[in-house]
Amino acid sequence: MIEQVKLLSDPEEVQKVYDFVKQYPLDYPDYFVWLEKCRRQLDIGDKRAFYATHKGSIIGSLIFQNHREEDSVLEIKNFRVSEEHSGKGVGSALELMLCSYGRSNGFSRIRVDTHHNNFSMIQFLIKRGYVIEGEENLYVINKTEAILAKDL
Ligand SMILES: CC(C)(COP(=O)(O)OP(=O)(O)OC[C@H]1O[C@@H](n2cnc3c(N)ncnc32)[C@H](O)[C@@H]1OP(=O)(O)O)[C@@H](O)C(=O)NCCC(=O)NCCS
Repeated sequence: MIEQVKLLSDPEEVQKVYDFVKQYPLDYPDYFVWLEKCRRQLDIGDKRAFYATHKGSIIGSLIFQNHREEDSVLEIKNFRVSEEHSGKGVGSALELMLCSYGRSNGFSRIRVDTHHNNFSMIQFLIKRGYVIEGEENLYVINKTEAILAKDL
């Protein structure tokens, strides 16, 4: 079903991933401000992304970066599979690529946060070997995020 999963590498691909992510806004404050900044960071390689395609269109993407404080950690910043293609292994394929990227580039851990009530994402991550490290208020005062991590 997936044609390929690729590490984003040129400005045209940045535009395509940006367009895909923009279609599926997530419930975070200033999401579109974040998205514009994210696009610039993808352009300069400060953030990186894997994306999956089907019939030439993007059906899933995983944006990540080096953790800002811990050199050995990769941090997932945005993860999304289009609803039409969910439950068919696309998310797993993207996450698998990130693990292999992390291992071959000397990282020892992947960390991700998601709304504490995003049960489908949390279930998916647990199935992929992540463990819940805790909960924190990262974005909104009265909303907590679950922090999950996986050792590589
Ligand atoms: C979570 C998500 C990435 C999963 O992608 P996917 O391509 O549907 O996942 P896969 O098909 O690879 O599923 C892998 C496993 O996770 C489990 N899983 C996937 N979606 C699930 C769900 N909604 N509820 C419970 N388990 C789920 C599946 O059971 C599957 O296990 P199996 O292989 O034993 O059947 C996708 O549904 C998504 O984009 N969700 C919204 C993302 C989001 O909220 N992002 C914000 C936080 S960064």
